[in-house]
Amino acid sequence: MSKAIIIHELGGPEVMTLEDRAVPRPGPGQILVEQKAAGLNFIDVYFRTGVYKAELPLVLGKEGAGVVAGIGEGVTRFAVGDRVAYNGAVGAYAEHVVIAADAAAKLPDAVSFETAAASMLKGMTAEYLLRRTYKVGPGTVLLFHAAAGGVGLIAGQWAKHLGATVIGTAGSPEKCALALRHGYDHVIDYTREDFVARVSEITDGRKCDVVYDSVGRDTFPKSLDCLRRQGLWASFGQSSGTIPPFDLAILNQKGSLFATRPSLFGYTATRPEFEESSNALFDMIASGAVTIPIGQSYPLAEAATAHRDLESRKTTGATILTI
Ligand SMILES: NC(=O)c1ccc[n+]([C@@H]2O[C@H](COP(=O)([O-])OP(=O)(O)OC[C@H]3O[C@@H](n4cnc5c(N)ncnc54)[C@H](OP(=O)(O)O)[C@@H]3O)[C@@H](O)[C@H]2O)c1
Repeated sequence: MSKAIIIHELGGPEVMTLEDRAVPRPGPGQILVEQKAAGLNFIDVYFRTGVYKAELPLVLGKEGAGVVAGIGEGVTRFAVGDRVAYNGAVGAYAEHVVIAADAAAKLPDAVSFETAAASMLKGMTAEYLLRRTYKVGPGTVLLFHAAAGGVGLIAGQWAKHLGATVIGTAGSPEKCALALRHGYDHVIDYTREDFVARVSEITDGRKCDVVYDSVGRDTFPKSLDCLRRQGLWASFGQSSGTIPPFDLAILNQKGSLFATRPSLFGYTATRPEFEESSNALFDMIASGAVTIPIGQSYPLAEAATAHRDLESRKTTGATILTI
């Protein structure tokens, strides 16, 4: 048997139950992974609460790492015993998962299971946001909300490595201090300060080339006021709630702005894209340019507590479930 965190109905963390199920079997093109660690992501909250839709019952979780324990028909990419990590449409809060072989990467020796479980989704998100949604480089001035979060601490270091001026926001003085140690040049406590005024002050009125906004309702539409003319608003999440429908004319009024709503799965849908992104992440980790701060870890059985802490803004950096 194999343990997994399953939801049978939508709701609060209390709908998450630890259950025994048969060890799943890999079908054609799939591998069975005996898990060592799983990553926690805000997207898991969206699926638990119904912001994003999925069929129930559902094993939560979209990021993890472990050892290949079984191979489906036609899989040549992996062998039993390989160390692998993945992200995507799987139930990662479990002792075993079956995933498409094409959705997994072989783990370099330099990357531990815990680091991989903390970064395959969050770090590859930082990769596409900073290298492809907008090509960040020397001279880029950017604002990244929730800078002390899982994606935020990775993105700060990566953006600094690319040569940008990196401005962040975070929800407490302690979180601001943490973000400043992870690549950010300036961090604004947006629970106490007007972040639009502070961005204008920090940039001498020039404002930002790109704003990465995963907070959603609470930072919209103020994020638009942090952009220079023709700047890019990348709305990639909604931790505070979904943004209301808006009139596109606002983009004209605020300076001929661009807007995009990207997702990791839209940037890594093909195997070459997935490999390019995961290899870039592993290179950043191996070179030491990016560390993956794991702020907290919980046993699999305590996944509901981990959700409560993530939703109440208690966590910093990445959160993992140990298995
Ligand atoms: N589109 C994509 O491809 C993609 C991929 C990965 C993640 N994401 C999004 O990126 C965001 C970050 O994900 P993560 O897993 O790394 O989470 P996280 O940043 O570790 O946690 C969310 C953070 O959002 C901030 N926040 C602001 N208002 C909040 C509220 N009302 N309730 C809860 N949190 C609030 C909190 O930081 P402060 O206290 O500092 O404000 C909190 O720590 C999420 O919105 C997620 O959906 C999108």
